Amino acid sequence: MAKAKIRYVCQDCGSDYPKWMGRCNNCGEWNTLVETVIEATRPGTVARAAKSLIGRSTPLALPDIPADSYQRLQLSIGEFNRVLGGGLVPGSLILIGGDPGIGKSTLLLQASASLAKMGQVLYISGEESAQQIKLRATRLKIRGDNLFILTETSMNAILSQIEKSKPKFLIVDSIQTVYLSELQSAPGAVSQVRECAARLQEVAKQQNIPTFLIGHVTKTGAIAGPRVLEHIVDTVLYLEGERFYTYRLLRSVKNRFGATNEIGVFEMGDDGMREVTNPSEALLAERLPNASGSSILVTVEGTRPLLVEVQALASTTTFGNPRRTANGIDFNRLLLLIAVLTKRVGIQMADQDVFVNVIGGLQIDEPASDLAVAAALTSSFRNRPVAADVVLVGEVGLSGELRAIGHLETRLKEAAKMGFKRCILPASTQLKQLKNLPLQLHPVRSLEEALELALV
Ligand code: TYD
Ligand code: MG
Repeated sequence: MAKAKIRYVCQDCGSDYPKWMGRCNNCGEWNTLVETVIEATRPGTVARAAKSLIGRSTPLALPDIPADSYQRLQLSIGEFNRVLGGGLVPGSLILIGGDPGIGKSTLLLQASASLAKMGQVLYISGEESAQQIKLRATRLKIRGDNLFILTETSMNAILSQIEKSKPKFLIVDSIQTVYLSELQSAPGAVSQVRECAARLQEVAKQQNIPTFLIGHVTKTGAIAGPRVLEHIVDTVLYLEGERFYTYRLLRSVKNRFGATNEIGVFEMGDDGMREVTNPSEALLAERLPNASGSSILVTVEGTRPLLVEVQALASTTTFGNPRRTANGIDFNRLLLLIAVLTKRVGIQMADQDVFVNVIGGLQIDEPASDLAVAAALTSSFRNRPVAADVVLVGEVGLSGELRAIGHLETRLKEAAKMGFKRCILPASTQLKQLKNLPLQLHPVRSLEEALELALV
């Protein structure tokens, strides 16, 4: 290996300097210089690695390129396979991000146990001792004959261990704890995270070892060493959920080998993460039909429909300004819906405290959930329940009109499967190509009409 040189590279314009400075001389941006190892051999190595993945370097006519030529490996965790796009691709580098304590190590230890059936797994932990991992494995009832634990944070030691033991699968928990001694910055710094990930990528591609990197999410929501990591790896998965709820969503936000926004649903129990194969059923389990302030919507995550209950409570303000609290939906969206209800439907909420909660700790960002939220609000305000056999979908516009939504067929099928009989939806939604619909449709133009139909 050529001797490594350390330079400070501007993340904005790419200029590099021998010393750290607060401001880049070239583009004038502050705080953009990041310590970087520059090696004469590095660019070539990356190119070679890329070549070995594709197989050849001459241009190929598109029809001559074999489709999906990689053999995907199936884990025994179906939800995990689903999020990976149908299984694990050999040589792929996967980043799993999430808040501390959300269950990343637990999930990956379970995945390791499943991978160990196919070959040797090297689980590198820089966060916990071997005993702690053993304790967790016992709790998860994992024997793991082919699962090797290495507690190490030095990247060079890790690389030589990989060289020596030639594992079939690699897990690094977490990328923020490993470091390269050539760099002066502390583990977890942007430069460390990026360089370590680049080394692991080389190994993954050259030796065809699928590698999982666990990454902690910083307070602002980005994986530390933010974008830099996201473009090095092939797949970025986030493990999400509220700490005090048991549901966990594994979401793919980038995937070179499959669809993004695909989700897998898990439940954190005493014996680790359990797959939830029918999430709609689980999410509706505790619902009280005919309670006011509750409505059901069908949201689509990736390709997967989910029936979710939205609850709202409107109660007269007793002191000062009315409060608005949104759990699971965007706060500004809630304010907008309250304003539309006030102005277009004549529901006066100016003296009401309003609380909205999406059941199960889910976060719903799609506008198609507007109608159900508005219905829950109105239902609570008027103290009239939403009909128990109705699901609502539709985006609400500022004039109080309902706007078209996508994935209608998927949504309707899921609602019918869960025993719902009717769906209130925007009249502008394309219905023509849908045949033999499993439930009765009520297409409506305005929010007012929809509420009239929904409330009993
Ligand atoms: P962990 O996997 O350590 O989270 P991360 O690696 O994302 O930081 O999970 C930590 C939490 O999960 C911890 O609070 C205990 C809980 N837990 C369970 O509820 N059940 C289990 O079987 C295990 C192993 C952990
Ligand atoms: Mg952990």
